[in-house]
Amino acid sequence: MLVVAHISDLHLDGSARATERAERVRDRLWRLPGRVDALLVTGDIADHGAEAEYEEAARILGLRDGGAPFPVLTCPGNHDARAPYRKALLGRPAADGPVNSVRVFDDAAVLMCDSSIPGRDDGALEDETYAWIEATLDGLGGGRRALLAFHHPPVALHHPLPDSYPLGEPDRLAALLARRPEIAGLITGHAHTPAATVFAGRPLVVGPGVTWTLRLPWEGEQVADRDAPVGLAFHVLDDEGRLTTHFRVV
Ligand SMILES: [Fe+2]
Ligand SMILES: [Fe+2]
Repeated sequence: MLVVAHISDLHLDGSARATERAERVRDRLWRLPGRVDALLVTGDIADHGAEAEYEEAARILGLRDGGAPFPVLTCPGNHDARAPYRKALLGRPAADGPVNSVRVFDDAAVLMCDSSIPGRDDGALEDETYAWIEATLDGLGGGRRALLAFHHPPVALHHPLPDSYPLGEPDRLAALLARRPEIAGLITGHAHTPAATVFAGRPLVVGPGVTWTLRLPWEGEQVADRDAPVGLAFHVLDDEGRLTTHFRVV
């Protein structure tokens, strides 16, 4: 069984408000009395893709000082910028290609995929990323289930804002899933609303936003509810390959 805590869309911009909200959920996670296997952060970590924003993210998430009590897994979103993300968040050489990474656990793996398109708000998985996913799954030897994490949901969420900036070529992703039964579920962010649906026969869970919560069309005209509490999810991938998600507010 794998237990993954999940936050998304911190939009760190140097403001006290963004910092406080990120630290609030970080504190809740760091002080959990029981152990989770990892924290997953599905993009829009910085608001402007600035190095200073990633340095703050690295501090808050304990990426530099070993302060995190479990692995912290990240992928970029449309507000992120690849070169400063690599340099200031991950401590790696700056480079412009997609930022993909995998974390392998005892009986499952989490693939963090880059769905950003530099300079744009909609998303896509590049050819390089599709090839990386297949090669990474091949490398798991078939014995492990996998979760795919990326920023842009591949489906409409029935709100005009996120639906304006979706993941492109969803049929290509669906075809990948058809070839890869070991992918047990998809985890995304971007929409700033906790949501659950199905894509190509797999569960698709959208994580809540740290910075603000999307008001649905029937909840009012103002898109961003900045007074909503910080959202948090816990994903459980059990030994039968079933994904269960619990949502919390902090
Ligand atoms: Fe966002
Ligand atoms: Fe986004």
